[in-house]
Amino acid sequence: MPRWLWGSCAVLLILATPLALVAQDYPPDVTRGKEVYGRHCQRCHGPSGWGDGPEAASLRMKPADFHRFGSYLKSDEDLLRTVEHGIVFSPMHAWRGQLTDGEMQDVVAYIRVLSQQAR
Ligand code: HEC
Repeated sequence: MPRWLWGSCAVLLILATPLALVAQDYPPDVTRGKEVYGRHCQRCHGPSGWGDGPEAASLRMKPADFHRFGSYLKSDEDLLRTVEHGIVFSPMHAWRGQLTDGEMQDVVAYIRVLSQQAR
């Protein structure tokens, strides 16, 4: 392979790397989200997101019911911010550091699916 071709390969690689890193997180993967939810969120928010997990009864502040209209109206970004930073003075702590960006996006996508399911 001629030298100039190697050069353009290197340039392509440098250009493509950030794209690949961004692309990794999209589109959110609901199956992965479900797995994250089952592991970390279900105990409070309940298996179907009604805020009725086994730990809910012992909490002073009820976990969010994702079927509430107020919750439904929030944008994905709003929910993502809550997951990322938590809610002060509530049992809902920040998940940044425990979950990757991709996992947080996946779990929000899964919450959206749950919130559209009827009982
Ligand atoms: C220890 C219990 C607990 C755990 C575990 C927990 N949450 Fe929460 N969550 C809460 C409480 C309490 C609230 C606040 C409800 C309120 O503000 O009325 C909340 C609120 C939220 C909200 C905001 C909903 C809205 O309508 O604004 C989102 C989104 C959320 N939780 C997602 C998650 C996700 C995703 C996980 C798992 C990674 C998780 N929670 C784990 C207790 C918990």
